Amino acid sequence: DLARDLAGRHVVVSAGGTREPLDPVRFLGNRSSGKQGYALARSAAARGARVTLVAANAALPDPAGVDVVPVGTAVQLREAVLKAAADADAVVMAAAVADFRPETYAAGKIKKKDGQEPAPLTLVRNPDILAELAGDRPRPAQVVVGFAAETDDVLANGRAKLARKGCDLLVVNEVGERKTFGSEENEAVVLGADGSETPVPYGPKEALADTVWDLVAARLP
Ligand code: C5P
Repeated sequence: DLARDLAGRHVVVSAGGTREPLDPVRFLGNRSSGKQGYALARSAAARGARVTLVAANAALPDPAGVDVVPVGTAVQLREAVLKAAADADAVVMAAAVADFRPETYAAGKIKKKDGQEPAPLTLVRNPDILAELAGDRPRPAQVVVGFAAETDDVLANGRAKLARKGCDLLVVNEVGERKTFGSEENEAVVLGADGSETPVPYGPKEALADTVWDLVAARLP
């Protein structure tokens, strides 16, 4: 039964965008809405999977029957994803994870002082969760999927990123005018480490989610 082709499987999906705090009221963030990740979680649950959704700052309702783990920062997202991935058949990293975070966190609100130059902001690298997971899988047969937003040379940059990250599938989006963050639609090409290339025409995020699970299911032992 194709409709329940993920029955008995545990899948982990990350969604939303991390926020890296500067002080109690400020953060460095991004425009990810979480909609694509939530669509992936709903689709997997409908196909019978047990789903852990690691949700970074997404203002969306919890999907029915999905185990939602809320997180804030990239470091928290890493911890939650790695924990849930321990017994997972597949991990899909749809979250927009900050590449850098402020080096220091000010316990009190940072203040401006008259006549003083603003203090420079020093950033440090965040761990690359996708590369770490793909390179050291808790289960050898686990299928690992990444997302990449590119503005130019989408396919060439996507292929290079797929190889660099070491994942099985990479969903490559062209970001631009029409395909804005927070929209209900998406358009993508899913690249496979096996050389496959699956175009997904402009349409609802649910359709892209279903194509991703089709490709994952075909790679599960
Ligand atoms: O390198 P880039 O940020 O374009 O890669 C995007 C993919 O890598 C996404 O799947 C994202 O969830 C994942 N990622 C990650 N850890 C980071 C940065 C990105 O897992 N620090």
